[in-house]
Amino acid sequence: MTKELSYPLIALNFKVYLEAIGENAIKLSRIAEEVSKEYGVCVMVAPPPLDLAQVVKEVEIPVFSQHVDPYKPGSHTGSIIAEEVKAVGASGSIVNHSEHRLRLADIGMVLERLRETGLTALLCTDTVETTKAGAALSPEILAIEPPELIGTGIPVSKAKPEVVTGAVEAVKRINPRVHVLCGAGISTGDDVAKAIELGTEGVLLASAYVKAKDPKKLLSGMAEAALKAWERR
Ligand code: G3P
Repeated sequence: MTKELSYPLIALNFKVYLEAIGENAIKLSRIAEEVSKEYGVCVMVAPPPLDLAQVVKEVEIPVFSQHVDPYKPGSHTGSIIAEEVKAVGASGSIVNHSEHRLRLADIGMVLERLRETGLTALLCTDTVETTKAGAALSPEILAIEPPELIGTGIPVSKAKPEVVTGAVEAVKRINPRVHVLCGAGISTGDDVAKAIELGTEGVLLASAYVKAKDPKKLLSGMAEAALKAWERR
């Protein structure tokens, strides 16, 4: 496995859950790396900001920042800038997560900053309408996540399949080079398979993995299901 992204992609956002901070961030990232190697499926991790640099050193899978601010280097206290994400060796960043929303002008600026620094953008959107606007900005990856399902364990791929297919179709029409994922409530291999059947190239998830009793078992099931669904496409 390498730090190169490939599809199907399972993207794991650790947010700032206690179960995913410090040593736990390393542990969960190593498990993600193991599963990625065993199944030959790309697994990306987005650890908490203060663990990003260490996680990059520990694993050979793509590691993303959870956020980047729309600034150039300089007087911006407490900010995360693209240059620093690049300097620690991360591969890209989540942009505009619904728990860290940006204004449209700032989304444009962040995407530009990521491009300038050679980082990959994973842009989050919440509806088919915002997906249309997002696709026009040409991020490498776009993840549609209805906020009301985030953290609920109710999978978007089963509860709101029309939102997923709507996003996939909109992106295909507007900017077919953009890779589409879906997220919110994804909790099982079956949810992942369903997401791929709906036309996505993978999933973005958090709580099911971070809080799993046996994260390796859960992720292995997801990787296996992703591969099978991918072959059936
Ligand atoms: O970024 C992933 C996310 O917002 C979905 O969270 O906990 O529903 O998998 P979760």
